[in-house]
Amino acid sequence: MSTIYPTSPDHIQKAAACLKDGGLVSFPTETVYGLGADATQDSAVQRIFAAKNRPDQNPLIVHVNDWKMARLYAEMDDRAKLLADYFWPGPLSLILNRKKDCALSPYVSGGLTTVALRAPDHDTAQQLITQLGRPIAAPSANRSGTLSPTTPQHVQNSLGDQVDMILAGGKCHIGLESTIVDMTRDVPAVLRAGFILPDAIADILDEDVDIAYDTTVETSRPHAPGQLLRHYAPETPLRLKAIDIEKGEGLLAFGPVRFMGVREHGAVPPEDIFQLSDSGDLTQAAANLFSLLHDMDHKGYKKIAVMDIPNKGLGVAINDRLTRAARAQK
Ligand code: TXA
Ligand code: MG
Repeated sequence: MSTIYPTSPDHIQKAAACLKDGGLVSFPTETVYGLGADATQDSAVQRIFAAKNRPDQNPLIVHVNDWKMARLYAEMDDRAKLLADYFWPGPLSLILNRKKDCALSPYVSGGLTTVALRAPDHDTAQQLITQLGRPIAAPSANRSGTLSPTTPQHVQNSLGDQVDMILAGGKCHIGLESTIVDMTRDVPAVLRAGFILPDAIADILDEDVDIAYDTTVETSRPHAPGQLLRHYAPETPLRLKAIDIEKGEGLLAFGPVRFMGVREHGAVPPEDIFQLSDSGDLTQAAANLFSLLHDMDHKGYKKIAVMDIPNKGLGVAINDRLTRAARAQK
């Protein structure tokens, strides 16, 4: 079982040395915990796929300090530079063409000529990249298809026997994976919903963007395998848009619960209510989503009943994750 190390200069140095030696280090970002490897070492990158049991044609996100590091590896045109200037460091991954002599392992691209890059908005992640002096490839630090981790304990529970070190940096404050935008198309396309909304991207670019994620169609070779519908799933089945619960179910609540009851049994016991946000705040709900699902998954409920969440703004990304999780179990 790998050890959880609190962030300190010594531990960051140790983690960077581990990455240099081809090891795997889990580290915090503002979105979810990543499972990191030196993005320039083939064998280290291959270890990520093995640890997660991830299909090797599913490319990885590569983490850089900033656009200056990004442009060493990928073609940053004016539009990409505009987005990086505005949103980095932050939860936006840009799909860009790899440079001709790109030093990144081809395995990070899963056989494509493009690469997904982002600069994380988290001191520990930034310091780790700086210490390594190279980009870090890192998907979410969970076994393929399961819930993403937002605490170091989630990583230890899912991948504890696979990762050399876990750097702890508290709970991830955004709690949902980054928005992914493909900048290699004529019209930029958002491939995965996240904290940064398509409208905000369109505003900065001053042009339309396509929405290319779809929760209803499962493609066999998606542009972003986050699009695969089997994703983000707890073990316990989910029941969406619940207006009450059945005996044996737990309630994932959003906003006031005064009208919720257990069918024919009265009020929902307080211990069976897991609140995403009392006040109905979507940002708070996103930050709590994965950690509450992790908690509820260990309670032995026969199902998790989820209250309706408005499909607006950040609610779109939350519903995207919940829909995929619910479908994975059918
Ligand atoms: O917030 C995040 O993005 C987190 C943290 C750790 O940074 N990372 C993350 O990685 O969510 P992962 O591997 O779980 O999701 C990466 C997504 C996948 O859906 C993958 O298909 C897509 O990025 N992706 C990566 N490279 C791509 C490429 N070249 N073209 C299209 N999609 C790509
Ligand atoms: Mg993932």
